[in-house]
Amino acid sequence: MAAETPPLSTPDLFRSLPDTPDLLPLAAGAAVLPGFVDEASAATCLVALRGVLNDAPLRHMVTPGGHRMTVAMSNCGPWGWTSSKTGYRYSRTDPESGRPWPAIPPVLRDIAERAAARVGFDTFHPDACLINRYRPGAKLSPHQDRDERALDQPIVSLSLGLPATFQFGGPARRTRLQRTVLESGDVVVWGGPSRLAYHGVLPLAEGRHPLTGACRINLSFRQV
Ligand code: SIN
Ligand code: FE2
Repeated sequence: MAAETPPLSTPDLFRSLPDTPDLLPLAAGAAVLPGFVDEASAATCLVALRGVLNDAPLRHMVTPGGHRMTVAMSNCGPWGWTSSKTGYRYSRTDPESGRPWPAIPPVLRDIAERAAARVGFDTFHPDACLINRYRPGAKLSPHQDRDERALDQPIVSLSLGLPATFQFGGPARRTRLQRTVLESGDVVVWGGPSRLAYHGVLPLAEGRHPLTGACRINLSFRQV
């Protein structure tokens, strides 16, 4: 793991954000927006995603350490995040097909930009969207999202389908991880002093959701 990064100089605009039913602060610069996307819009998102995944199917990537990830992934946007034996990188094309990643559907871009603005990041324009699909048992170990150059812009994460327990810490690995259950339609935004916060997802529990069946989809929007 790389050395810990120094604290960001971004002003702490967020501590004063009130804790309201539609915004639950997690840390400075980080909040959960419960039910930001209603069920009808979530269904629209999934229709848009179907087209994306037709062009760029989900696949289990391999980590630099040689492990097959339990989460299946794909991307949309000008840039797509990939992992392979040679490392993590953003690429313009899908290594499976050699073609550019599909565009970010406007309905998804709009949600991401409005959620970021709700937390105070009003110049967020994502150029990458990582699509994660969790089946029961799939998990994501705590990590930082640090392959982007635009560290002044937040990460915006939209959850659809089965609930999952999200872990959220701080920029240092030793920070205790808080746990919060993310339901379908919930959005998490982390940026500013929390931009490099460690986060992860506990193994997905069995279940069925009316929109997705036996899985959870998470979209994380980034500005690369
Ligand atoms: C991620 O860290 O890329 C995804 C987080 C999530 O699935 O909630
Ligand atoms: Fe992440």
